[in-house]
Amino acid sequence: METILKIAHVQKYYGNKTNLTKALDDISFAVDKGEFVAIMGASGSGKTTLLNVISTIDRVTSGHIQIGHQEITTLKGARLNQFRREKLGFIFQDFNLLDTLTAYENIALALQIQGMKARVIDAKIQQMASQLDITEVLNKYPYEMSGGQKQRVASARALITQPELVLADEPTGALDSRSSKYLLECFQHLNKQLQATILMVTHDAFSASYASRVLFIKDGKLFNELRRGEMSRKTFFNQIIDVVSLLGGDANDLI
Ligand SMILES: Nc1ncnc2c1ncn2[C@@H]1O[C@H](COP(=O)(O)OP(=O)(O)OP(=O)(O)O)[C@@H](O)[C@H]1O
Ligand SMILES: [Mg+2]
Repeated sequence: METILKIAHVQKYYGNKTNLTKALDDISFAVDKGEFVAIMGASGSGKTTLLNVISTIDRVTSGHIQIGHQEITTLKGARLNQFRREKLGFIFQDFNLLDTLTAYENIALALQIQGMKARVIDAKIQQMASQLDITEVLNKYPYEMSGGQKQRVASARALITQPELVLADEPTGALDSRSSKYLLECFQHLNKQLQATILMVTHDAFSASYASRVLFIKDGKLFNELRRGEMSRKTFFNQIIDVVSLLGGDANDLI
């Protein structure tokens, strides 16, 4: 198996000596190509910090992060921007669609920047749209779409460039249960069909149960991990709930 992401002894400290927060405290793990990994942990455990240092939004205090063959902790300036644009896909909780562009234009943007021909872009968008069931909203502006539709358009935008790594922070956080389920099924499908490698932060055991592996973090450290293997989603869900209660959280907060 090809390793896409390698995190080695990463520490991220905030503050100064008298007021130090160890948001990430010597965390190490690796993700293979084609994995769908969920990251869970209580509020304040370091999930967003972890995603931010991987997505190069934030810098590590120490340690190494490799994406593909690239060490990203030393990348700067134009090379960092290019790397982000070409290798990573982001899905944020608040969608981050551009309000003045239609769904189609939002999705097309990254491909236009790459200089791809309009005809090729169109074929890619039509195919992605049918997989995510957003064909009907392609000509709509963000304010004309439902939350679930916006989230699926944002997902299409992140996935259309076939990034090496897709990073999602609480992608279902703003969705109702039906839209959440639909988006997660899309993720699962794209993960299988396109071999998209997905790293998803989530509070909720239901979302995590769609992943092939769940990493649990506690106080900035890796606490446990579960692999789905051949388990049904329901069985996996129950195992996740067990670890969540071990973590000391209230399981009811997380489902
Ligand atoms: N910019 C910052 N300055 C100082 N401390 C920070 C900063 N960002 C995060 N922290 C601290 O680092 C720790 C981890 O925060 P992080 O946002 O990664 O948690 P999280 O697991 O994403 O939580 P949540 O589930 O509430 O989103 C927390 O104790 C938080 O207070
Ligand atoms: Mg967070």
